[in-house]
Amino acid sequence: MSKWIKVCELEDVPENNIKKFSVGDFDIVLANYGEGLRAFPPVCPHMREPLDVSGLLDQGILTCGKHVWQWDLRECTKASSMTEENLLFYELKEENGDIFVDVSEQLSYAWEEEEELDDDDFFG
Ligand code: FES
Repeated sequence: MSKWIKVCELEDVPENNIKKFSVGDFDIVLANYGEGLRAFPPVCPHMREPLDVSGLLDQGILTCGKHVWQWDLRECTKASSMTEENLLFYELKEENGDIFVDVSEQLSYAWEEEEELDDDDFFG
């Protein structure tokens, strides 16, 4: 079931900016790629670089500053051959200048789940 919450107003995230927001139990980032906003987890799917700090956004292409993985936020796709993982995207909608995101489920990358399993194995 969807759980839409208002995260901010459209003007809070200027073009080519990436900002982090708390949505309760976890954080998300919103990125303004010029034609709209995208919402996704705040860390790079490669090695957890914080994308609101190290991400560079230009002409719809988001680049992680750590090892230069790239994504096309217009198409929600990987944007270079060296980028091994796509971003996970939250559903997002705008109503009268307010930005709402469906936060019914925290999206996480595979390495996060593997690490949790490793911890359970170690302490179990
Ligand atoms: S941590 Fe982002 S590309 Fe490596």
